[in-house]
Amino acid sequence: MVDLIKKKKNGQALSKEEYTTIIQDFVKGAIPDYQMAAFLMAVYFQGMDSQETAILTEAMMHSGELIDLSEIEGIKVDKHSTGGVGDKTSIILAPLVAAAGVPVAKMSGRGLGHTGGTLDKLESIKGFSINLSRKAFIEQVKQHSIAICGQNATLVPADKMLYALRDVTATVDNISLISSSIMSKKLACGADAMVIDIKLGSGAYMKTVAAAEDLAKVMIETGRNMNRKVVVVISNMDQPLGCYVGNALEIKEAIDTLQGKGPKDLTDLCLTLGAYMLVLGEKAPDYDTAIQTLKELIDSGKAFQKFKEFVQLQGGTIGVVEQTELLPQSAFSQDLISPKTGYIHHLDALAVGLASMKLGAGRETKESEIDYGAGIILKKKVGDYIEKGETLAILYSSEKSNFDKAQQLLDKAYQIEPTPAAIMPLVIKIIEN
Ligand code: URA
Repeated sequence: MVDLIKKKKNGQALSKEEYTTIIQDFVKGAIPDYQMAAFLMAVYFQGMDSQETAILTEAMMHSGELIDLSEIEGIKVDKHSTGGVGDKTSIILAPLVAAAGVPVAKMSGRGLGHTGGTLDKLESIKGFSINLSRKAFIEQVKQHSIAICGQNATLVPADKMLYALRDVTATVDNISLISSSIMSKKLACGADAMVIDIKLGSGAYMKTVAAAEDLAKVMIETGRNMNRKVVVVISNMDQPLGCYVGNALEIKEAIDTLQGKGPKDLTDLCLTLGAYMLVLGEKAPDYDTAIQTLKELIDSGKAFQKFKEFVQLQGGTIGVVEQTELLPQSAFSQDLISPKTGYIHHLDALAVGLASMKLGAGRETKESEIDYGAGIILKKKVGDYIEKGETLAILYSSEKSNFDKAQQLLDKAYQIEPTPAAIMPLVIKIIEN
């Protein structure tokens, strides 16, 4: 390992055998964390070429169980987002594209830090279970075209171990490491094709268009090397997506969107991502036809019907989905009042995510309990006009003492100026194979 660290430190590319050995030995516990940390830092500064990134991805993918979806007919298209605030797109897209006939066999994660997780959001529906045996998971997709379950420890253990080290050695934000982390998990989950939503902005890992484009190219090339079609959508995460942040609140907004009553930014992004899923899944001949199909599924109520079927299949209480006021609600609320009159120029997604976590919607440690009703409703977003004394946002929590910490973060999150604000487009770029 010392020689391999030295080799990378000196900017040389490592071979397939070398990466495979590193990953296998690390997972076995034969390489100590301090050597792997040094190697990661060498990668961080020297980078990896596209061939090395593909080799590392493949080695990581093979570090644990591989899910075989071949029993399920059709092209299995997965979707992944690099993480953001208020991003409930998976919960909308899974039933929406399943209603169009694309089989959705999705393994999702929990939230950590300022970003929420699909599993936590779904578990805010009373009775909903994310624990499905492999057999039940595959059977459900075969019969109903939709299932979402948790990723267990047998899937890409190398990523769990590497991510934990990267998190504490300031080596998360490296394009090859991010790409291999995401792609190894998607590939191990058995997807034939995938749509990746790379988030760009204050609430995301990628802070510049150039960095997001570089990550997109690496992911597409890795997909090509592994015979998988990948489409990347680069989308804006300077401000949260939609207006609701927090678990049960996001389920409510997802339901609204499936019923055609969602906010424009969230609806537009879901239509864009969903349309590429339909095209990759060969359920639509082109993007425009796919958009039309998705809109019809929303307008006819079929998309929401599929969501109800999915919730029922996984043990969730249908009454809660039909009457969203029965979703968990926190006991207390507090308004965030605008200190001045003007136009909103910036609404910091990271600050909103952190404030929501402080209110109880996220975990500060892996063991923290979630307050499903906690979160924030954003009454005003970038471009909106507000008068002094009006409500910018409403905060929800089961603990009154949480409001002060959240309020402090949100006070700095809104930037209000006297002149109208320029609005960044939501979809910044689409990169296809
Ligand atoms: N998401 C992942 O799964 N891995 C990364 O490295 C970054 C974001």
